[in-house]
Amino acid sequence: MKILAIDTSCDDTCISIVNVKCQMSNVKSFKAEVLSNVVSSQVKIHRKYGGVYPSLAKREHQKNLPMVLKKALRGAKLPRKKPKIDAIAVTIGPGLDPCLWMGINFAKDLAQQRNLPIIPINHIEAHIFANFVGKSKISNLKSQIFPAICLIVSGGHTQLILMRGIGDYKIIGETRDDAAGECFDKTARILGLGYPGGPAIAQQAAQLKLKMKNEKLKINLPRPMINSKNYDFSFSGLKTAVLYDFKKRSKKMRTSKEYIREMAKEIQQAIIDVSIRKTIQATKSYKAKTIMLGGGVAANDELRKQFQLKIKNLKLKINFLVPPKIFCTDNAAMVGVTGYFNQKKASKNWQKIKANANLRI
Ligand code: KG4
Ligand code: ZN
Repeated sequence: MKILAIDTSCDDTCISIVNVKCQMSNVKSFKAEVLSNVVSSQVKIHRKYGGVYPSLAKREHQKNLPMVLKKALRGAKLPRKKPKIDAIAVTIGPGLDPCLWMGINFAKDLAQQRNLPIIPINHIEAHIFANFVGKSKISNLKSQIFPAICLIVSGGHTQLILMRGIGDYKIIGETRDDAAGECFDKTARILGLGYPGGPAIAQQAAQLKLKMKNEKLKINLPRPMINSKNYDFSFSGLKTAVLYDFKKRSKKMRTSKEYIREMAKEIQQAIIDVSIRKTIQATKSYKAKTIMLGGGVAANDELRKQFQLKIKNLKLKINFLVPPKIFCTDNAAMVGVTGYFNQKKASKNWQKIKANANLRI
């Protein structure tokens, strides 16, 4: 089954074509071949604002979509006039309302022209299914996959989700304020590292190789809610702690490479510590067989490495899945795969499909 998938939930214009082969009843026999995966990033445009500017993002989506579609069809070696596609999957939420509508309206035009059904997609579910993109990894797993604990950490969301099976989700914890990615972005801005903050902070942290020689530079950030008896997160206090520390330093010190690298490492570690602690706690108490990561922050090398190490050290007999980095950050291949598992929602009643910026999984 060939699915053309669209995601314009935030600042990336994404179109992908996936070819899915699977026996519906068996996730393990699942193969999702990515025929093309085009992401047109708006990073340069939003950089000057230090974050995403919704009305600008909307305008850019409108401008980019036809070109991104052309590239995706060409990449999949499909003819532009009458490509053999079975359905269109489009993200309807959660995300930025004006941006979501751009993708939805584009999907509706395409679907009407070609008389195709549209499958509405939840962006968070798609971040989970990024783990199934292009995979024989799933079929290689010896044990059962479910129940699984999914940690979705992106620019807009931080959620721990109990997944008992395909389509069976329960949010067991989430951030009470900022998302993990938002915390990376906001603290990077304080340090003058630009947008997106996650990769910039990771890069600075990786450059801090030696142990600090200068005691004055020692930074101890809080690990918010790490000991709370629930699975919720809070990252706004971390951002405030960074700001206080930054402000109390002399201008010379806070603009020094050493300070920025030390601070970057501590920010990254604080986010990693809380993420790992909560996920492992949930895994144990729900007797999960799998941990799955997803979302832009899951592209973080240290987070991936430290998760793996923790699971090994604790001798947890579980599957650990994390998507390739290109499928952690926003993309439409994950939307296509999610579309396959949501075929029952496919409809030619195109007008009924609406954006829902606050859609919950
Ligand atoms: O999933 P995503 O592409 O978009 C949303 O759905 O929000 O996530 C974007 C977020 C940004 O906050 C960005 O700073 C963060 O993911 N991010 C990272 C890394 N790459 C992207 N955070 C930490 N380390 C990274 N390598
Ligand atoms: Zn996302």
